[in-house]
Amino acid sequence: MTVATKISEVRSAIKQWKADGLTVGLVPTMGYLHEGHGSLISTAVKQCDRVVVSVFVNPTQFAPNEDLEAYPRDFERDKALCEKLGADLVFHPEVSEMYTEDASTYVEILSDMPKQLCGKTRPIHFRGVCTVVSKLFNIVQPDKAFFGEKDAQQLAIIRKMVIDMSYGIEIVGCPIIREADGLAKSSRNTYLNAEERRAALCLSKAVKLGRELTAGGETSSEIILSQMKALIESEPLARIDYVEAVDGITMNPVEQVKSGDLIAMAVYIGKTRLIDNFTV
Ligand code: PAF
Repeated sequence: MTVATKISEVRSAIKQWKADGLTVGLVPTMGYLHEGHGSLISTAVKQCDRVVVSVFVNPTQFAPNEDLEAYPRDFERDKALCEKLGADLVFHPEVSEMYTEDASTYVEILSDMPKQLCGKTRPIHFRGVCTVVSKLFNIVQPDKAFFGEKDAQQLAIIRKMVIDMSYGIEIVGCPIIREADGLAKSSRNTYLNAEERRAALCLSKAVKLGRELTAGGETSSEIILSQMKALIESEPLARIDYVEAVDGITMNPVEQVKSGDLIAMAVYIGKTRLIDNFTV
């Protein structure tokens, strides 16, 4: 497995692979890899001849008040996991390699899509995500790119960007990977102390409740969301950012849920903001 820190190194590896007629998969990550990322990498290895994993904590998707500096990092561990899972190249650039000092070009979806859900409290987040993912697409030119369904709004936004920008890349969404007790795997789980870790189960419990209600035929967003919110609010360490029902493609709120819609939440457990969701 190759570790590349320069865009030129990635480009020359890709050029050779394409000349050999091989397909290329990209798994974009911000590192501190867990089993959720592992499943993206394993799926990519199964579906593509060569797999590139990018490990880059992207500053443009963090607002000044967010956790960019504190974001957990352990590149040696990430590298070992990528190698074990069969990745061919890990791209681990410095910020200066990805963004020149005067970088001023962004990729931004101008509809309401990035303003919904997480976009309400993180207004510049998806502009940063689209910009860095777009740059990674330009650098790696993958046939397929792999994203987790835990970041459901991100996945919908990337799918839209790929259509709007005619990238011609297949976007593969991979299911949420959970701990044995239900908590969705996330790099941010490492911020939780023991009491918060227990409290964080209110997210997956709310998902379970929502699933039960929709499976039982309930379609009213108001009824489903109010019951999910009541469950979360019964946990003293939890503070709801949002619990919403939206169209699975446009991310616009829906009053009646139908198959394919998304019920998503962001909840603070102490200072840590966690997300979870399910598709109806
Ligand atoms: O999902 C993430 O880890 C990031 O948002 C991504 C897609 C790697 C872009 O920085």
